[in-house]
Amino acid sequence: MFKINEHYGQLNESYLFSTISKKIAAYAAAHPDAKIIRMGIGDVTLPLSPAIIKALHESVDEMGAKATFRGYGPEQGYEFLRNKIAETDFRNRGINIDADEIFVSDGSKSDTGNIGDILGENNTVAITDPVYPVYLDTNIMRIGQSEKIHFLASNASNNFLPEIPNQKIDVIYLCYPNNPTGTVMTKAQLEKWVEYARKNDSLILFDAAYEAFITENDVPHSIFEIEGAETCAIEFRSFSKNAGFTGLRCSYTVVPKALKATNNKGEKIALHALWNRRQSTKFNGTPYIVQRGAEAVYSPEGQQETKALVAYYMENAKTIRKGLLEKGWTIYGGANAPYIWVQCPAEASDSWGFFDRLLDECHVVGTPGVGFGKNGEGYFRFSSFNSHENTKEAIERIKNWKI
Ligand code: MLT
Repeated sequence: MFKINEHYGQLNESYLFSTISKKIAAYAAAHPDAKIIRMGIGDVTLPLSPAIIKALHESVDEMGAKATFRGYGPEQGYEFLRNKIAETDFRNRGINIDADEIFVSDGSKSDTGNIGDILGENNTVAITDPVYPVYLDTNIMRIGQSEKIHFLASNASNNFLPEIPNQKIDVIYLCYPNNPTGTVMTKAQLEKWVEYARKNDSLILFDAAYEAFITENDVPHSIFEIEGAETCAIEFRSFSKNAGFTGLRCSYTVVPKALKATNNKGEKIALHALWNRRQSTKFNGTPYIVQRGAEAVYSPEGQQETKALVAYYMENAKTIRKGLLEKGWTIYGGANAPYIWVQCPAEASDSWGFFDRLLDECHVVGTPGVGFGKNGEGYFRFSSFNSHENTKEAIERIKNWKI
């Protein structure tokens, strides 16, 4: 009989957000009158902006005409989009990234999950705890539960910013602004990580999916703002949260050409070439129509409109922060990120217990902290992706809640 990948048996039975949606569906079926407000998964609620819709319509028309129809596109993404990204997100900010160092993709979830394909199995890997579950789950899928996976504790004692490891780690996942805690690293703090990586020949996998939500000046939008990071980091960016592409799917990954690792013979190999090989073999490119939509994000109207979307959600973050502080709860994040990380009140048994009570007694959904790792136990995440009305209503319910 053929065999399965045994590592799958070491994962939780279902992915965190699938478990939560099943729980909500069961509750909604049993309580059809409950007006449930969802502040769990970070899924956008506002429609795509007019500049994007216009570009999508135009590209649909192109696909319907013989002269402009397109089949397979370049696996790395169309030049029109890669050029706009390199210019707007990097060069205009003084960062030297070339268009051909950018790989357009269908989501940071896919790319952060797939990047392990080009890394050796014997690498030690460090993952913050709590963490976006994809990094851990995909490492378990690949190498199994292993002592090679190290957890960097983020907790109240370090303000949910992990310490730099005191041993040599090969691959380090960092996500800032952070999912789930909403915390950020200043430029000086991130510099220390880059310094560590360069000293130890480590690779930093930097997930900057939430960079558009940064409001403070000394918080870097890209790890490549740090000198030397192009020799030790890969960066993941997404159009999901800043431009409302969760349903369209578009993201990009920056693999600098200067980034090298060694093979068994001790030769230096560019990761750019390996990721290019991986993508051209396993990925057939993001749809043309979607890439035209993403290109419109960089038009003057697109920039203005997407900034307005982000500002709308950040207004919700303010409402949540203010309301929960008034309730007397201890909170983190929400100032440069769409997530607010809350210490569960003493009356809650644990973070799943809090989830159940909040759903049952307030009809509000959040995400239990323990779903992001054991240091998340006793904490809870609220997402700002909702309407102003729903956010205000949810916070009013919580404020009036006898807990
Ligand atoms: C989250 O809620 O953590 C995110 O929406 C998950 C994701 O982007 O895949």
